[in-house]
Amino acid sequence: MSPTEPRELDCEVVETSLGAPAIRDRVTGEVMHPVVGPAIEASRLYVEPSRLATRLAEPDAHPLVLLDVGLGAGSNAIAAWRLSAAMPGTARRLAIVSFDHSLGALALAVEHAAEFGFEGEAGVAARALLTDRRHETARTSWSFVPGELPETLAQAPLADVVFWDPFSPKANPSLWSVAAFAALRRVCRAGATVHTYSGATATRSALLLAGFAVGVGPSTNAGKFGTLAATDRETLAEPLDRRWLERLSRSSAAFPADAPTDALARVAALPQFTPA
Ligand SMILES: C[S@@+](CC[C@H](N)C(=O)[O-])C[C@H]1O[C@@H](n2cnc3c(N)ncnc32)[C@H](O)[C@@H]1O
Repeated sequence: MSPTEPRELDCEVVETSLGAPAIRDRVTGEVMHPVVGPAIEASRLYVEPSRLATRLAEPDAHPLVLLDVGLGAGSNAIAAWRLSAAMPGTARRLAIVSFDHSLGALALAVEHAAEFGFEGEAGVAARALLTDRRHETARTSWSFVPGELPETLAQAPLADVVFWDPFSPKANPSLWSVAAFAALRRVCRAGATVHTYSGATATRSALLLAGFAVGVGPSTNAGKFGTLAATDRETLAEPLDRRWLERLSRSSAAFPADAPTDALARVAALPQFTPA
């Protein structure tokens, strides 16, 4: 198998605690979009907070570039694809670039098309991604970059929106590190926003240390909140404030393993936490 050849993912279709179909990776034991299931979570955590519909309606000759980090079963990507497909002809084009080292979960989801939203044109797009690694319509392009993250981010076009959805920091520690987010920051255009389900203190401190402004994201399951990061603080509805900084200083899990030894001082000195 070459380094760019997607590897097999050992996964199965399961039912979440609320009865939604979802895909579970047997190796990590993690369920993609647990509890509420893929359709609701893709919309609530990624498509709606990224204001995709509004951004696509803004006149611009260049496509809006969405990096879909962790293609998995394609639920986040296809939710964005469907939204773009439904936009009027005058809307901006959407370019989705999906990253993963496996196409296994998408292949399984497409086999269960009705449960995972791959009926009709969306199914045509996903099947093309599986066979040709890209698909194109008048409104939307969708391409797949195989291989190991975060290294493959070096192949990314400059991004406007990022859906950051790897497995948890426990299963995928290298994707929640300062190094990974610094690689991401290098491919973010001014005005870009980054959306992720993790609201862990170490996720937020890693994003801050990598050069993002960071705020609270939408609520996930069980009363937790995700994270919304951006190249510009003004974009954030709820930026982390000095009270969060105080919690950071008391946290026993404040930073990822690759944070510098003076991480707390570096974060505290960021413009986000200094009075204007
Ligand atoms: C939680 S799932 C993604 C779910 C997906 N966003 C969806 O909407 O269905 C995480 C994905 O990240 C991929 N992944 C984990 N570590 C990776 C790595 N180092 N490089 C590339 N892909 C990775 C896994 O193969 C898996 O498909």
